[in-house]
Amino acid sequence: MSDSTRRDFAKGAALATAASYSKIMGANDRLRMGYIGVGNRGDQVHDAFLETGSNETVAVCDLREDYMDFAVKKSRANPKKYKEYRDLLADKDVDAVAIASPDHWHALMFIDACNAGKDVYVEKPLSLTVVEGRKMVEAAERTRRVSQVGTQRRSTASLIEAADFVRSGGIGHVTVAKSYHLENEWPNGIGNPPDTNPPSEKEWDMWLGPAPKVPYNINRSYYKFRWFRDYSGGQLTNYGVHNVDMIRWALGLEYPRRVTALGGKYVVKDNREIPDTLEVIWEYDGGTLMSFSHYDASAASQNPPRAEIELRGTKGTMYLMGGRWQVVPEQITDLAFFARTPLDRESERAYKPSHKPAMEPISNGKGVESTPSHARNFVECVKTRKKCNADVLIGHVSTVTTLLGNIALKTRSLFEWDGNAERFTNHEAANRLLFYKYRAPYRLA
Ligand SMILES: NC(=O)c1ccc[n+]([C@@H]2O[C@H](COP(=O)([O-])OP(=O)(O)OC[C@H]3O[C@@H](n4cnc5c(N)ncnc54)[C@H](O)[C@@H]3O)[C@@H](O)[C@H]2O)c1
Repeated sequence: MSDSTRRDFAKGAALATAASYSKIMGANDRLRMGYIGVGNRGDQVHDAFLETGSNETVAVCDLREDYMDFAVKKSRANPKKYKEYRDLLADKDVDAVAIASPDHWHALMFIDACNAGKDVYVEKPLSLTVVEGRKMVEAAERTRRVSQVGTQRRSTASLIEAADFVRSGGIGHVTVAKSYHLENEWPNGIGNPPDTNPPSEKEWDMWLGPAPKVPYNINRSYYKFRWFRDYSGGQLTNYGVHNVDMIRWALGLEYPRRVTALGGKYVVKDNREIPDTLEVIWEYDGGTLMSFSHYDASAASQNPPRAEIELRGTKGTMYLMGGRWQVVPEQITDLAFFARTPLDRESERAYKPSHKPAMEPISNGKGVESTPSHARNFVECVKTRKKCNADVLIGHVSTVTTLLGNIALKTRSLFEWDGNAERFTNHEAANRLLFYKYRAPYRLA
């Protein structure tokens, strides 16, 4: 994009912002949506919005014509098609946008959308770097845009119930919150295809956007970009951000105080850049450890099966499996732990039977995580101008929490994190990993 194009776009965007301030949607108005990125997830998000019935698809944007045609067909309308997202943002018929592009595009598209006066539903993880995320928060605040980040558990009825239960002290003080992503991709993972010429040089350049110019490799592009550092934080930010966000929400946590990580590409033989085995641990003031275990070479299930999050409280442990949850009571005693001696086994015998369950077991948390509910919450908030269940600041803190794990892994560090300043206090060099230099002519405003 030339400088003059950028200036024209900024001018148009400012006018659009002013126009949108004067527009207040009525209860019966249908929100006019534009979709940027209608690939794997964009298609699901589009479905979710269509399911709410309170909006219409007026525009779609993607680099792929076939994906756009597919979206147009299912839209039950006659949306315009754009290959350039800035053209969609300049369209006055679009009230709000849903962004489901690869992670390295989220910041620019989100900020440009705010400046263009559009409310924004953006997929998780919010950003590729900490500094991008902070700029996104600032842009939404400055332009007074309604925002929703795609951590849809926050709008899922059964999980709202679970989070309320934990927040009200139902399982006591949670000292340990563990979470997992398990998948056995050994031995060949995503394969090892050679670099080739791209199907279209122009499309590859647009796909890369602010990321470094590199030769085309099919694994770097559609869907599989998750395995490459220039475009994604790997499964830690892909799946881990859902878990971290759920845990933060249920426990009322903001930023961690400390973080460390270990792992690597130990056994899977493919061209991925992310680890196949990873452990991240965060420590919070107030006494909680949180962890994320990402195993790509061993997928035997957790106990109970498929419990991707476990919240270990003093009174009970909550296991969460997608939209379902259950609580297993802890056994509690008022007696002080005894000293084991060869002479006296009586104290041991007295200690064990005095443990009593802290509560009845609970197994009624049934449901499926719901993107339509998350979309509905966004549409309602666009009308009421209230904050969404997972607004940009919430998404930022959850995303940053995962990004810190990646920097700890890269530098093999135990970090102290100052959440107010959003900086490491014990590793100055690592603060340079909170951002990266965009490829010209892209600039993070
Ligand atoms: N909330 C969830 O549960 C969930 C689930 C899956 C994916 N996601 C997120 O959705 C995002 C997209 O992932 P995906 O699996 O759909 O990837 P994908 O590769 O299938 O889709 C990305 C789409 O963006 C388009 N795109 C890329 N650059 C563009 C540009 N400059 N202009 C317009 N379109 C462009 C691509 O053509 C592609 O169709 C990621 O951030 C991912 O983390 C969220």
